[in-house]
Amino acid sequence: MFVRRIAVVGTGYVGLTTGACLASLGHDVVCADVDAAKVDRLRRGEIDILEPGLAELVAEGIAAGRLSFVLGASAAVRHTEQGPEVVFLCVPTPMGVGGVADLSIVESVLEEVRTALPAGCVVVNKSTVPVGTAERTSELLDRADVAVVSNPEFLREGSAVSDFLNPDRIVVGGSSQDAAERVAALYSRLGAPTVLTDAPSAELVKYAANCFLAMKLSYVNAVAELCDRLGANITDVTEGMGYDKRIGQAFLQPGPGWGGSCLPKDTSAMLQLADAADFEFRLIRATIDTNTRQRQRMVEKVRLAVTGRRGGSLSRKRIALFGLTFKAGTDDLRDSPALAVAALLRQAGAELVGYDPALRPDNPHRDLAAITLVDDPYVAAKDAEAVVILTEWPEFRSLDWAHLAEVAARPTVIDTRNLLDPAVARRGGFEWIGLGKNQPA
Ligand code: UDX
Ligand code: UDX
Repeated sequence: MFVRRIAVVGTGYVGLTTGACLASLGHDVVCADVDAAKVDRLRRGEIDILEPGLAELVAEGIAAGRLSFVLGASAAVRHTEQGPEVVFLCVPTPMGVGGVADLSIVESVLEEVRTALPAGCVVVNKSTVPVGTAERTSELLDRADVAVVSNPEFLREGSAVSDFLNPDRIVVGGSSQDAAERVAALYSRLGAPTVLTDAPSAELVKYAANCFLAMKLSYVNAVAELCDRLGANITDVTEGMGYDKRIGQAFLQPGPGWGGSCLPKDTSAMLQLADAADFEFRLIRATIDTNTRQRQRMVEKVRLAVTGRRGGSLSRKRIALFGLTFKAGTDDLRDSPALAVAALLRQAGAELVGYDPALRPDNPHRDLAAITLVDDPYVAAKDAEAVVILTEWPEFRSLDWAHLAEVAARPTVIDTRNLLDPAVARRGGFEWIGLGKNQPA
């Protein structure tokens, strides 16, 4: 395997994982970020995000002299005398006005590095970008001697390192076959199937995959709703579906709606892409609408459980929220379905007390302003009219549900992740309400 000189711009979930993992594969990697304090912390091996194995890889990379951190993209490009052979762009591409991906950060990074890139270097887009961005990147760079390649990243938060090092596939697309092959070769030790294609196809793979996952979840959430209405059990239904190899067991858990930094952004962007191509992608529209409705549905479940009536008032009802991050295993609140449900409950007048194992009350987050955050689930449940499980943290299973029933005003748990063993909750004295679990909606 060739050892390559690599620069990574942006040290968030994607960039830091990419940099640390490529260093662990033997490459020489320099990572850049605009956040000076973050760069200082990374140099000391301090990681801001909750990501198993990442701190260890960063420490190993630094110790082996294969991983370093600098302030600003241009410093990364100038880090060695010869300059990088490959530059990964891993900067945010936020959802802009009307759901269009905002490329201004990518553009400003390109402007910063364009003249300093060495001849023969390959610029790799790892950020999720609209189809056509590789071409636009080439135009902005205006360097015939620098190739541009799209190499979408499929890692999940909470298992980023393991996903990166055990990928289902590597996808690389670009107009230069040689450049695409060089980028694919960076991963050769991972032995993953590799799809070499043109840039628009590579760019579309990421959207098509994430939209399909979102569609799968909206479908499951809709089937769970039907289970509620028909008195069927969603766990058995999805198990029965999942044994079909064409469907698979993964990604079939109903929940309060899907969220996070990717699926919402990518489904909106896909709609925009389709719109711009004069194609009405109704499946994606329905996928998003079903997700919006799912959050509202969770509120209706709480309303019914707490007031005993469909239109009952939640005004001044104290509700305990267990789990606020967008899924378990991360401290990320971006587009968290838990927060969307919380906002709707708040609108309905409820008073919210929240507990999340990954969040500390002394580190307030602006998204949590409507929630009184505490660091003890038993304090959260005190005098609550209902406990609502919104994130599937496994530790909730081993709480003392009998004790929670004693402190709560009403021992009712609405388990939007079907996380608990209902028998355990019931033994503790709780009324347990799940999703699609033989109970009328
Ligand atoms: C980001 C994007 O959100 C995603 O669309 C894309 O696919 C990959 O990059 P993530 O790594 O999760 O994903 O983002 P985030 O954790 O916000 O990290 C981005 C990093 O880029 C931050 O450390 C930020 O300081 C840095 N950054 C931002 C720069 O280095 N330069 C800038 O101009 C702006
Ligand atoms: C996703 C993609 O999985 C990943 O391939 C891509 O690179 C980035 O986007 P991530 O955002 O980290 O990863 O989260 P993911 O594990 O996919 O979960 C997304 C949302 O779906 C979460 O809100 C999660 O709780 C929800 N989910 C997931 C379910 O409700 N049920 C499931 O069975 C799986």
